[in-house]
Amino acid sequence: MNKKLIEKFNSQAKTYDRMREKHFQQKWRKKLIGEAKGHVLELAVGAGGNFPFYRLEEIDSITAVDFSPEMLHKARKGAHLYHLPVRFIESDIEKLVFEKHKFDTVISTLSFCGYRNPLQILENVSTWCKPNGQVLLLEHGISSNFIVSKIQKAMDPFAVKTVGCHQDRNIMELISRSPLDIQKAEHHWMDVFHLIWAKPRKE
Ligand SMILES: C[S@@+](CC[C@H](N)C(=O)[O-])C[C@H]1O[C@@H](n2cnc3c(N)ncnc32)[C@H](O)[C@@H]1O
Repeated sequence: MNKKLIEKFNSQAKTYDRMREKHFQQKWRKKLIGEAKGHVLELAVGAGGNFPFYRLEEIDSITAVDFSPEMLHKARKGAHLYHLPVRFIESDIEKLVFEKHKFDTVISTLSFCGYRNPLQILENVSTWCKPNGQVLLLEHGISSNFIVSKIQKAMDPFAVKTVGCHQDRNIMELISRSPLDIQKAEHHWMDVFHLIWAKPRKE
């Protein structure tokens, strides 16, 4: 199952590499990633789509995880291009283990559409992040617009099959069930895209 999914993402690596500085989400990425600081964990780094937006002077280290070797290959070149101190880990994020309170910033952009158990990952993120750290998310999901959401639901099986990406996840509802407290959020494109600044809930 994972092997097939990894192959799906491997085959998209060239496109993600080409898109690094041409994403339509450039403005959102800049706003979000520009706030990363300290020891950073980036989940599902892809081809390094966020690399142009890190502020080098704020970063001590970046730990970047993905299970697609082709994406990681492109991301390595990207890290070199932007002079970023990145340690790459090839792993399934659903099997990842880190010690508690390891990171100052945890980042995910466009990855919660893919996981089998997204809530479990959010729970892990809240323990990997330091209590006074920050979790920065740019995710897409089901729209609040009735017609758009109908189209997304209809497209979901096709999108999962072709690009490994769910269209119908309710991102805000997922986060509300997780141990993260939202500090600030922006919603775009009829609530399809969400920019979220969050913190682990106080224990
Ligand atoms: C839509 S791409 C986004 C890439 C990057 N975050 C960006 O914003 O450009 C999703 C990425 O998640 C990775 N991915 C999906 N599920 C994963 C998992 N369970 N473990 C590790 N990586 C995963 C894929 O290989 C792919 O690189």
